[in-house]
Amino acid sequence: MSEPNTNVSTTPGTPPAPTAITATTPPKPAAAKAPAKAPAKSGRRFFLFALFGSWIAAAWVTFTASMTLMTLGTLRFLFPNVLSEPPSKFKAGLPDTFEDGKVIDRYKDQNAWIVRYQGKIYALSTTCTHLGCTPNWLERENKFKCPCHGSGFYITGINFEGPAPRPLERWGISIGDDGQIVVDKSKKFQQERGEWTNPESFIKV
Ligand code: FES
Repeated sequence: MSEPNTNVSTTPGTPPAPTAITATTPPKPAAAKAPAKAPAKSGRRFFLFALFGSWIAAAWVTFTASMTLMTLGTLRFLFPNVLSEPPSKFKAGLPDTFEDGKVIDRYKDQNAWIVRYQGKIYALSTTCTHLGCTPNWLERENKFKCPCHGSGFYITGINFEGPAPRPLERWGISIGDDGQIVVDKSKKFQQERGEWTNPESFIKV
């Protein structure tokens, strides 16, 4: 491609040849520099988005936690805890197997001593009537002795020493269909209320 003739004739009387227009790159419009500020704007926008997003997230977490708690509360209301308590009755063998003047200690984990004494079989509660500790049967000393504050009880359950204010309690007792002793812990008999004369509080042997 030939270069445009840029030489102008200077011959007198000759009209000047039209000046060749030199191809130049048009100046860039000033607005072209505007995008330089864009990063600051987008950074601010990003910050606002992030802030807004964190508020939404916090609100969502709070809402979800509230709904979960409400659901759990409703479920607990609909399905309350069912206490599975141990059975209140248990069998303790045949009356003939009990020796007079002896305390049977093997039902202590069921909160009962079975005693055969002076023609009666009865079941004593193993709970001290002072503050609820569990006394021990001391065969040699022929008494129940509480390790907590020293209360003592005769084989009958009557208190005679220490701070216990009243005798041990008796459980309900009877003979079952199979001839075995049945102790019923849903029934309680207190000596100071005159309840030991109740026929459900002992077995006559
Ligand atoms: S709890 Fe038995 S003497 Fe106090």
